[in-house]
Amino acid sequence: MSAPRPPLVVVGGGVAGLSVALAAAPRPVLLLARGRDGGDSASALAQGGIAAAIGPGDCPTAHVHDTLEAGACHNDSTAVQYLAEQAPAAIARLQALGLAFDRDDDGRLRLGREGGHHADRIVHAGGDASGAALVAALWRAARAAGHIELREGQQALALLLRGGAVAGVCLSDAQGGSALVETAEVVLATGGIGALFAASTNPAGADGNGLALGLAAGAQARDLEFVQFHPTALAVGEGRGDGQPLPLVTEALRGAGARLYDDQGRPLMAGLHPLADLAPRDLVARTVWQTVQNGEGAWLDATALGEAWPSRFPTVHAACLAHGIDPATQRIPVTPAAHFHMGGLATDRDGRTGVRGLHAVGEVACNRVHGANRLASNSLLEGLVFGHRLGRQFAEAGVLPMPARGTHVWTGSGPAAGAEAMARLRLLLWNALGPVRDGTALAATRRMLEADADGHGWQGRLAVRMLAAALERRGSLGAHYRSDGR
Ligand code: SIN
Repeated sequence: MSAPRPPLVVVGGGVAGLSVALAAAPRPVLLLARGRDGGDSASALAQGGIAAAIGPGDCPTAHVHDTLEAGACHNDSTAVQYLAEQAPAAIARLQALGLAFDRDDDGRLRLGREGGHHADRIVHAGGDASGAALVAALWRAARAAGHIELREGQQALALLLRGGAVAGVCLSDAQGGSALVETAEVVLATGGIGALFAASTNPAGADGNGLALGLAAGAQARDLEFVQFHPTALAVGEGRGDGQPLPLVTEALRGAGARLYDDQGRPLMAGLHPLADLAPRDLVARTVWQTVQNGEGAWLDATALGEAWPSRFPTVHAACLAHGIDPATQRIPVTPAAHFHMGGLATDRDGRTGVRGLHAVGEVACNRVHGANRLASNSLLEGLVFGHRLGRQFAEAGVLPMPARGTHVWTGSGPAAGAEAMARLRLLLWNALGPVRDGTALAATRRMLEADADGHGWQGRLAVRMLAAALERRGSLGAHYRSDGR
């Protein structure tokens, strides 16, 4: 009798992890998710939709052009080409799973526009609830798939290596229980680092845990300095440092005609870029940041939507009402907030990290598809396209044999920071590593964290690496803006 085949272990219940798991059929997959139904993933909070060149007159080449322009051409152009070409197929796969994208009065897919796009090419589901609808559809499919075992309430604590190759993963649950799963193949799809900042649109679990785990196992980091700040989170309690996300005020609102103003009612983006309010996100975020730093408020006026608010943008509408703002009659106070990490574990286009058996995909990874600044609505797309690509490879390749030689070594990120240290760390990073950076503040913050090496746990060590990367890149590029830059 042959021994049971060890499963492919996928860590992360967002769009990237689910896409790998679904496409890997018939390989047995063990999928670990922190929360239930992927509800705690950043994917589920996404409001903007999925970019795909499917509108009249649009084409993948134009999508590639906009992606490279937003990414300051720091992208891997082959990866970008693949992303844009595969986007229509990714949309078709989701439709086959039963996901109903929004349609116009004539029954055609409603294509929206967001920052940096020169064409209407973004599909949404449930108005601004695209991420939640997408995650729900993928979870339904995963629950129905015979090859996937789903374990919720679990996270990966450490990786077991043998002779430098993956041999297992240590899991822990919310009750403090732990277990070892033997496997030669692990995919990290754990999301980004937004929750390390005092103002963030990401869920509390997006604290860089998968990135830290991969680095501890010997994988390389790439482009850690490139953090994207969304220009318009709802300005309610920003800077609390409690790790809870600020409600996002989707860029699709500006695509639908909303405009940014300062306290005096002057248009914020006038004369700064030909696309004005729909300029690439880094420019808009810095403009809003500067306005707020000058002691003024920044406001989004979307009152023209009037009665269409609850049906077109139900998520933002509900968040505004919950904070006493009626967006149909009042301007919305906004602030920038950490939103997406372009950097991460260095991978190739097939998700390989360089540690045998360890793959990474989605926001935790950096395959350079986004360059120095991600184009709007390319992140769910990245999870779908590169997750599917990786899953198909697992399906087609033979199962990697368990490493047979060498000493077993546990590699983990070590103790985590306590709540107080985390609150302090989030404020430090927000001030030094936010939308506008300078060498003096970056160096001082790095020194402070290095001097208290244990006080901020593995999150502090990760922060030091990000600060070092930002110090090293002396000029501005994409989302990395140095006010003292060359
Ligand atoms: C948004 O809805 O504004 C965010 C879209 C994105 O991050 O791609």
